[in-house]
Amino acid sequence: MKRLTKAIFPAAGLGTRFLPATKASPKEMLPIVDKPMIQYGVEEAVASGIEEIIIVTGRWKRAIEDHFDIAFELEENLKAKGESSLLKEIKRIANMVTLCYIRQKEALGLGHAILCAKQLIMDEPFAVILGDDIIDSKVPAIKQMSEIYKKYNSPILAIQRVKKEEVHRYGVIKAISVGDGVYKVLDLVEKPKTKEAPSDLAIIGRYILTPEIFEILERTTPGKNREIQLTDGLKKMLKKKPIYAYEIKGKRYDAGDKLGFLKATVELALKNPELGKDFKNYLKTLHLEDW
Ligand code: G1P
Repeated sequence: MKRLTKAIFPAAGLGTRFLPATKASPKEMLPIVDKPMIQYGVEEAVASGIEEIIIVTGRWKRAIEDHFDIAFELEENLKAKGESSLLKEIKRIANMVTLCYIRQKEALGLGHAILCAKQLIMDEPFAVILGDDIIDSKVPAIKQMSEIYKKYNSPILAIQRVKKEEVHRYGVIKAISVGDGVYKVLDLVEKPKTKEAPSDLAIIGRYILTPEIFEILERTTPGKNREIQLTDGLKKMLKKKPIYAYEIKGKRYDAGDKLGFLKATVELALKNPELGKDFKNYLKTLHLEDW
C-alpha cells in the first residue's frame, strides 16, 4: 500500500457566505485568533504526516502564497528589534512543509478543484482538506483517518451527525456501521432536501481518496449548483470500490459560515495559552443575559 504523503487544499472559492469580508481578501486568510484560517488545516496536515501540500488557488488569492513564503523585510525588522520568538514563528510558517500551487481558473466545483491537482498527485492516495472546516482534536483529523485508511485500503470520508434541518448543506451518506465509528458507505447524495436525506451522517471537509477518482471526475457532469461535485464522483466510484466513512473524534467548526467562524473564534481564543485567561475574564464581565 502506498503511503499517504500529499494533501490537496481547494482554495479557489469566492467565499460568498462571508461577504463583504471576502470581497477583496481570500476567505482562507481571515484570522481566527492569531492565525489565518488555512494555517489550521496546514498544521493539521503536517501533524498527520503529510509532506506535500497542493493548494488549488484562484485569482485574488496571492496572500495565501505570501503567507507560507519567507517574508524578508519582516524577518530583518524582527531581527533588528530582537523579537526572537516572533521571528522564530514567522520562519516556522515558511518552513513547515513543501507547498505547490495550482490555479483553478473557474469556480466549477469541488470535484473540478481536485481534478486540477491530478498531475501533481499521479498514482498515490491523497488527503483533501477543506480549510474552512476547522477540526480541534487531540489526534489530528487526517491522522485519525489515515489509521482507518491503512486498515481498509479504501477511500475514507470524514463524517459527523448533523441536525435534520442542516442536511441540505452537506453531502450525506447512506451507510452501515462496521464498528468503532467506521461505516461502510452504501450511497451518497449531495445537499439533499431534509425529506430526501438517506441519514443524518454528513460529510465534513476531510477525505482520503485514491487516484481512481480522477478518471471518474473527468467523466462526471455538473450536478448540484451546476458544479462538478466530488460527492457525485464518489457515488460512481462506489460501483467499483468500497468507500468507508469515519466519525472524527474532535470538535468541528464550519468557519466558512459567519456564525461558525464566531464560534471557532471564541472557543479557540478561550483555549489559547496567551489569551485564554484574560479573554474568559472579559467574557464574564459581559453579563450575556443583558444583551
Ligand atoms: C462541500 C461538499 C459537501 C460536504 C461539505 C463539507 O460542500 O460538496 O459534500 O458535505 O463540503 O464542508 P461546500 O461546503 O463546499 O458547499
